[in-house]
Order: sequence, then C-alpha cells, then structure tokens
Amino acid sequence: MQTLRDELRGVPSIVGQAPPFDWSSAPDAPQELFLQWLRHAIGAGVPEARAATLSTVDGDGLPDARVLIVKDVTDDCGFKIATSDESPKGLQLRHNPNCALTFLWGPLARSVRVRGVAEQASASESAEDFLARHPQARAIVLAGGQSSVISDEAARDAELEQAKATMKADDHVVSPHWTVWTIVPNSIEFWQGDPSRDHQRLRYVRTGSGWDIQHLRP
Ligand SMILES: Cc1cc2nc3c(=O)[nH]c(=O)nc-3n(C[C@H](O)[C@H](O)[C@H](O)COP(=O)(O)O)c2cc1C
Repeated sequence: MQTLRDELRGVPSIVGQAPPFDWSSAPDAPQELFLQWLRHAIGAGVPEARAATLSTVDGDGLPDARVLIVKDVTDDCGFKIATSDESPKGLQLRHNPNCALTFLWGPLARSVRVRGVAEQASASESAEDFLARHPQARAIVLAGGQSSVISDEAARDAELEQAKATMKADDHVVSPHWTVWTIVPNSIEFWQGDPSRDHQRLRYVRTGSGWDIQHLRP
C-alpha cells in the first residue's frame, strides 16, 4: 500500500523554469536585483508575486509567521508592510523588531530571503496607506481586534456596521492602530533553483557603507 511518504516522494519539487541569470554581473545594490526579480515574477504572472511570509518572534521568544503583502521597496532597500498594531504580528514587531521576509516565486524556481529590523513609519505615512485601502478592509480594521476569537457573531457584525457608519460620516477617518513598517535588511539572499540540484545562492550582507556579495553553497 502506498504510504503518504511514498505519495509525497512522488510529487516533484523545484519544477519552475528559472530564467537565465548571470551571477557574476549582479548589481552592487540588492534592491536593484530584487526589483528585477519581482518585476519578472509579476510579468510572468506568478500568483501573489508581491506576497511574502513575515516571520516574527513573540514575547516568549517563540517564532510566528504569516503571509502578507509587501507594499513598496524603497531606494535604500527598505521593504514596506502594513498591519494593525492590535494583531499578533503588530504586537510582536513592537516587542521585538527583528524579523524576516520570505518570497517564493515557484513558477520561476526563485525565492528571496530578507532578514532585518522593522522600523515604524510616520503616522502620516500610515494614515495615507490606510486611506488607500479598500473600504471593506478599512472597516474591518476600524472594527478592530484582528486575530482575536469571535465569541459573539452578532456583536462582531454590529461592530463592523458601526465602523461602516463611522466611515460614512467621515470618509477620512483613520484607524490609530494601522501602522506601516519598513523592514531594513541586514542581509538578503537570492535563491534560484537548478534541475541538477546545484542551486544558485547569492547573499548580500550589509557592511558599514554598502553590501558584501557572497556566493553560497546550495
Ligand atoms: C496572499 C495573502 C496576503 C495577505 N496580506 C495581508 C496583509 O497585507 N496584511 C495583513 O495584516 N494580513 C494579510 N494576510 C493575512 C495574514 O496572513 C494573517 O492571517 C493575518 O494578518 C493575521 O496574522 P497575525 O495573527 O499573525 O497578526 C494575507 C494573507 C494572504 C494569504
């Protein structure tokens, strides 16, 4: 009888088609390479190309991770995300800003790993981001309590309706909990799969003035 282990062994991995890439001519700045890869992923129709897994550490030192949208990448290589301060990830970043972001572009056999420190953006930047969100998404944040247990469905519905009424009365109302964070990397690794399993790995490590580029064993 075929076990799950056999079944899983039969599922191919790293089946994406990696585009040609000349590692020896990688740009000095990792954000340039990141944007090349991101735009390639978007152009190739990779699903959720701007989504990444954000890993954080909670107050007990235990890891946590979830998928979210990366909203921007700055010229000096800051990765912008946004979330509610009330959510576990928001609380965790406040307690310990050390974090990681992992992108996976499977159809291109590519992944990018970012390790760094999250810095809180200004209140005006967070407000601007909040107001650019879909109305329903804004109402949900205004109702509050992301990731808390719904113990009373009717009360939750009433809070959402109240939030919508608040927005109707003032279309520019902003949640004080909505926060943009900029993840400032200490290192960024670019991984490209090879069918021969001799995968390519290039890591940028921040130095005082720029970046060290290291070629890693797979
Ligand atoms: C593709 C995708 C995109 C998502 N984008 C976001 C996002 O931008 N911000 C966010 O707070 N949650 C986003 N989520 C939901 C999170 O994965 C998570 O469920 C939620 O933020 C609660 O996480 P927490 O309890 O660790 O704070 C997204 C989920 C998926 C699958």
